[in-house]
Amino acid sequence: MLAYLVRSTLYEARLAVIGQALVRQGCEVHHVDSIEAAINDGRIAGRSNALIVVPESGDSKADVARIAHAAASMTRRAFIMYVASTLSPEDYKTLTRLGSAESTDWDAAIKEIAQLIPSLQKDAGVKSDSFGHRLITFVGTGAGGGNTTIAMETAVSLASMKGGAAGNVALFDLELADSVVCSYLDIKPHLDWDELSHNPERIDGHMLGILASRHESGLDVFASIAPPQTEIDIGGIAVLTMLNRLIELYDVVILDVPSSKRRDVDEILRNSDLVVVTGLYSIPAAKNVGVMLKKFAQMQIPPNRVATVITDAEVNLFGRVAETFDISKLIGPTPPLFVRRDRAFAIECANAGLSMVASQPKRGICTDIAKIAERVLTVAPVAAAMVKA
Ligand SMILES: Nc1ncnc2c1ncn2[C@@H]1O[C@H](COP(=O)(O)OP(=O)(O)OP(=O)(O)O)[C@@H](O)[C@H]1O
Ligand SMILES: [Mg+2]
Repeated sequence: MLAYLVRSTLYEARLAVIGQALVRQGCEVHHVDSIEAAINDGRIAGRSNALIVVPESGDSKADVARIAHAAASMTRRAFIMYVASTLSPEDYKTLTRLGSAESTDWDAAIKEIAQLIPSLQKDAGVKSDSFGHRLITFVGTGAGGGNTTIAMETAVSLASMKGGAAGNVALFDLELADSVVCSYLDIKPHLDWDELSHNPERIDGHMLGILASRHESGLDVFASIAPPQTEIDIGGIAVLTMLNRLIELYDVVILDVPSSKRRDVDEILRNSDLVVVTGLYSIPAAKNVGVMLKKFAQMQIPPNRVATVITDAEVNLFGRVAETFDISKLIGPTPPLFVRRDRAFAIECANAGLSMVASQPKRGICTDIAKIAERVLTVAPVAAAMVKA
């Protein structure tokens, strides 16, 4: 198992002793400058579990806030052990509620960590054999480019698979200001971001049950009731906590990222099991897709974790895409999935509050969407282990 020790000049000697103990327990130990450095370390990807040991800096409030933020963005792959001589009851509670962090004092650190390692290793083993929890993030390349439609229809397609093949499915709409998903599906949204942002630690399984809007396909939709009064940071603790709880509880989480929020989700994209880029069937849109794919390559998101969907594609009488331009020149060699153009049907369904896939699953456009759902199921979760306290 991987273990990271966050450097501290104050506690260098004590950390060295902890490091030796970890090595004796069979851990691969690395020293890093910050929690973020551990989380972003390339070695962590593909591993099912890791431990990050964080020594106190002298300001425990700030330490706990930093840990909470890190845990919210990455709990799937790492458990954080905070070592501090004293901790207020409030900070202690914040840490334990995260579900992926604990605290200990310096005297008990070695013993506590020694007890923790076997359970982390066991947890990793159990989880990697099971179904796994997938995070699938859909990003649009331009407003009105069909991202929400495709993300939502893929989610319905997954939720209605025969025999529950995809497990339970959640759709989380990151359009906090002006969500249209619920109107597309004629259901009532329940997320109140003004309230959630005040008490993110209260988001637990029970609360998610209340916040979900259930669609008849079995899909649980998480969307906001109204624009929040104060701006909610997409990379902030409330949204990330929500996301992590969803990943814990659902087999597949589909995330709809509006094109306006694209710049705020780098960390989420890095942690996604699959990133689906959507764009319309046009030269400008395909160019944007190409630019985005290059950006993902720079971000070192492996190409097998990226898929492209071109929607509103013109097809000929045989249902084949009429190649009116050379799309591979613009988006690169990996062929995209196409969703054919069917505007009258798309509009009719949107107006009636019906999912296209649920109302006419055999229709061409719906079989195209079913292929995206199948692609989603071929993805192996990066690291299924979500560590529980
Ligand atoms: N294959 C298709 N055939 C016809 N119409 C389509 C197709 N795919 C999407 N559309 C339509 O395109 C419009 C796109 O709306 P949608 O809300 O999905 O876009 P979006 O990318 O999420 O927009 P935004 O960036 O503003 O969030 C919808 O009216 C939808 O019905
Ligand atoms: Mg949208």
